[in-house]
Amino acid sequence: SWSMENFVDKEIDRIRKMIGPNEHVIGAVSGGVDSTVAAKVLKEAIGDRFHAIMVDNGLLRLNEAEEVRQTLGEYLGIKLTVVDASEEFIGKLAGVTDPEKKRKIIGNTFIHVFEREAERIVSETSGKVEYLLQGTLYPDVIESISFKGPSQTIKTHHNVGGLLADMKLKLIEPLRELFKDEVRQLGELLGIEHSLVWRHPFPGPGLGIRVLGEVNKAQLEIARKADHIFISEIRAHGYYEQISQAFAALLPVKAVGVMGDKRTYEQVIALRAITTHDFMTADWFDGFSVAFLKKVSSRICNEVNGVNRVFYDISSKPPATVEME
Ligand code: XMP
Repeated sequence: SWSMENFVDKEIDRIRKMIGPNEHVIGAVSGGVDSTVAAKVLKEAIGDRFHAIMVDNGLLRLNEAEEVRQTLGEYLGIKLTVVDASEEFIGKLAGVTDPEKKRKIIGNTFIHVFEREAERIVSETSGKVEYLLQGTLYPDVIESISFKGPSQTIKTHHNVGGLLADMKLKLIEPLRELFKDEVRQLGELLGIEHSLVWRHPFPGPGLGIRVLGEVNKAQLEIARKADHIFISEIRAHGYYEQISQAFAALLPVKAVGVMGDKRTYEQVIALRAITTHDFMTADWFDGFSVAFLKKVSSRICNEVNGVNRVFYDISSKPPATVEME
C-alpha cells in the first residue's frame, strides 16, 4: 500500500541508481518548502554530489539568505552556495516601474546568475554535472500539459525551465507526483523544521514587486522592515497558520502627516493578508483584532523611517490579485 515512507524510500533509491557515481546534480533553492524538500531528497540520495545554489537577488526579506544558509547548509547538511547578486539585480531594476518589466528583468537576471554559478560548479567538479533538480509539483505538471491558470497568463511567473535547452541538463523532479500538502508531509518526515514546512509562499520576484513602482535600496529597506514587523507580530499573536499569505508593500505615493509640531510628507505602507485554497481566488483575512492592528501600525510608524501611514488591504481576489503588482 502507498505510504509516504515507502514513496520517499523508493524515490531516494531510484535517484541513487539513476545518478552514476561520478555524476553530479545542481539545483536552485529559495528557502521555500518545495525546493527545500526536493533538495533534502537529493541530499539523502547522493550527499555532496548535489549542489544547491541560492541566488540572493537583494529582494529577499530580512535575514532570509542567512536563514537559508543555516537551515539548508548547516541544519540539513546540504552542500550550498549562496551567491550575493543583489547589486546586479538592483542595478538592472534602476528606473523601471512597470510590474511586468520588473518581473522579466528579475527572471532573466536570475537565469543568468544561476547559469554562471552552475558553470563555475561544473568547472570545479571532477565528475560530470548531468542533472538539474526542479521542485515541480503534480499541479504544475498538470497545468503545463493542460492549461495555463489565470495568474500565469496575467502575470508571467518565472522558473528556470529555460536553462535546460542551453545547458543540456536532464531534469530530475522528485516531487512531480505530489500535491502541496503531501510535500509538507514529506518535509516533516525528512526532519525539516515545522516553521519552514508551513511557510507562506513568497514570489520569485520578491520585494521587487512589493516595492510598487521604482525599486532601489532605500525603498527595499523600508518594505523589508515593515514586512518584518508585520510577520513577526502575526507569528507572536498566533495568526500565522490561519493565514495563507501575508506581507507589507510600499506604495508609490506620499502622504501628509504630523510629528511633534512639524508637518511630515512621507510614504505609505499597505498590509495584505489573505486566505485561499488554491491562490486562484482569495479572501482578505478578517480575523485580526483591533489591538493587533494598532500595535502593527504604531510599530511601523515608529520604527520604520520615512513612513507615516499604514493601510490594510480589504480587497478580495478577484478583482484584486494577491500581490499588488
Ligand atoms: P497573484 O498576485 O497572481 O498571486 O494573485 C498568486 C500567488 O502567486 C504568487 N506570485 C508569484 N510567484 N513569481 C512567483 O514565483 C511571480 O511573479 C508571482 N506573482 C505572484 C503570489 O505571491 C501568490 O502566492
